[in-house]
Amino acid sequence: MYPLKRNRRLRTTAALRELVSESTLSISDLLAPLFLIEGSNMKESVDSMPGVYRYSVDLALKKAKKLYDMGIPGILLFAKIDQKLKDNSGESALNENGLMQRAIRQIKKNIPNLILCADLALDPYSIYGHDGIVENEKIINDRTNNVLAEIALSYAKNGADIIAPSDMMDGRVYCIRKILEKNNFVDTVIMSYSVKFASSFYGPFRNVLDSNPSFGDKKTYQMDFRNKKEGINEALQDIEEGADIIMVKPGLPYLDVVNELANKTNVPIAVYQVSGEYAMIKSAEKMGWINYKNVVMEQLMSFKRAGASIIITYFAEEAVKFLKRNE
Ligand code: PBG
Repeated sequence: MYPLKRNRRLRTTAALRELVSESTLSISDLLAPLFLIEGSNMKESVDSMPGVYRYSVDLALKKAKKLYDMGIPGILLFAKIDQKLKDNSGESALNENGLMQRAIRQIKKNIPNLILCADLALDPYSIYGHDGIVENEKIINDRTNNVLAEIALSYAKNGADIIAPSDMMDGRVYCIRKILEKNNFVDTVIMSYSVKFASSFYGPFRNVLDSNPSFGDKKTYQMDFRNKKEGINEALQDIEEGADIIMVKPGLPYLDVVNELANKTNVPIAVYQVSGEYAMIKSAEKMGWINYKNVVMEQLMSFKRAGASIIITYFAEEAVKFLKRNE
């Protein structure tokens, strides 16, 4: 009771505030997405995501090395697939000389200690821009799982440390775990996009990979953003199926889900601060409407406070600079 209890006491000085702070953000919490394109010596900018580029494998390797040298523990790879290689079943994703496979091999060989995560889904490979095999405008679950499992094995064989299925098919984690075990990839980690909402915040990303759905939307597999219990079910099921890390995506609008999972589960939780979240902050910065650095750091810290231990963010490189400046 006031004045016995004055909450402002512990806020009096920076040192006291530091002493009683409840959350910390470290460089070791961050994973940086990295986009790949064919070619050599290529670095393409992306209109919808200023500061983000698509790299050919040689330059992706350089970028990965830079991130690693800054202390960023891992990267999450995405490939922009040539239109002529797209089909309905992701055939080219199985090519041992495909863009993802080449990049994984190169980066693993040159930077063995960088944690290499491979995003796994059919949409970059699909003529329909959907995350599964399409029949009569429906997404076919189980056949998609078989393909995803084969692709996961290929990524693991080439050196991926973490497979990150982002497709939201039912049972895919189990199918991937089964094939990895059968082929003795017992240490390959599965970081499942467990609670992935059908979100309009993915818009800028789909422009990066040219992977907009050619019909309909993704609401028959990605989750309804009105639901939280359903998200908890998804995550618990993925853990049972063999996921080592569960992910919530997007980030900021779904901190309630992150928090609930942190309370209800005992596995590490990743949060993906997605392209639309990035683009909004970038555009507000450009307009001069916000203190960019402070807004970025406040949002990243909010993920930690909610209970995430891993943050996938396009701000990773800048966040390292901000964190180092504060040391
Ligand atoms: C592909 C995938 C998407 C994202 C990550 N993996 C797009 C989608 O599901 O349509 C979005 C990432 C972002 O917006 O930053 N399955």
